[in-house]
Amino acid sequence: MTVRIRKAVFPVGGLGTRFLPATKAMPKEMLPVVDKPLIQYAVEEARAAGIEHFIFVTGHGKTAIEDHFDSNTALEKLLEKDGKTDLLAFLRDSTLESGKISYTRQSEPKGLGHAVWCARDLIGDEPFAVLLPDDIFHCKTPCLKQLVDAYPAVGGNIVAVQDVPLEHTSRYGVLKVESDDGHLIKANGMVEKPAPETAPSRCAVSGRYVLSPEVLRELDHQKTGVKGEIQLTDAIAATIGRVPLHGFRYEGRRFDCGNKIGFLMANIEYALDRPDLADDFKAALKTLPL
Ligand code: UTP
Repeated sequence: MTVRIRKAVFPVGGLGTRFLPATKAMPKEMLPVVDKPLIQYAVEEARAAGIEHFIFVTGHGKTAIEDHFDSNTALEKLLEKDGKTDLLAFLRDSTLESGKISYTRQSEPKGLGHAVWCARDLIGDEPFAVLLPDDIFHCKTPCLKQLVDAYPAVGGNIVAVQDVPLEHTSRYGVLKVESDDGHLIKANGMVEKPAPETAPSRCAVSGRYVLSPEVLRELDHQKTGVKGEIQLTDAIAATIGRVPLHGFRYEGRRFDCGNKIGFLMANIEYALDRPDLADDFKAALKTLPL
């Protein structure tokens, strides 16, 4: 089966309350890891997976994201004049081609499922990717590319998963496992934020998905779930029987930058991975009273 995943949805309509006061006037998705905003990591990952159209579901106070992916001619001219070609290349890298990017708004943050549903007319009737920008993945093969490559063999819905300690299941969507070959997991259920006592497994969903348009049809019902929000997990789970659901154990490390420890860890790992920073940074870290 040839399936091309052309479109990706980036839900960026949330309030980012865990990062207040930083996120009072600035979108959480613009917080930088080293020198690049979280959202740019997700966009670059999508590009590397062959995505051609980038759909952002934004909300109140998120215009900095639109500006970030637009060109900044004045700045470009200045860098050109000063011969700062490296910086110029970075700047141009963060500009998305006109016509390949769409913005739609979620008027109220009613949950991740609702955010994805807001993009339904832009997605149309084809499988699509969803990337949550708070999760960044340090992988040899970009995480979404791993999913996109695995997708044609299974179709339906496929989600990135990792095994988490039982005491953490209440932070994630968790799969009910039918069979597991070590990489690919066939699921016959999925539950949002289960308590450890009721968790069907330790297979937790991370922020990368390739979804069937059936999920959008399910979201049309606007059913609320955990925390009174319209949950993407519930809509995906409801399509089992019509389309298959698989988890894919990606190779690489994930950082949950929606929480402070994950965000700080990502900054350290990504800085240590940068040839221009690693040595000086290591030396500076040694001066800390740990
Ligand atoms: P989170 O629940 O982690 O983000 O959603 P949040 O609600 O902004 O953060 P806190 O908990 O208040 O700190 C993951 C992603 O889904 C988006 C968020 O913007 C984030 O990128 N999201 C969430 C929406 O677009 N709309 C929503 O209604 C909820």
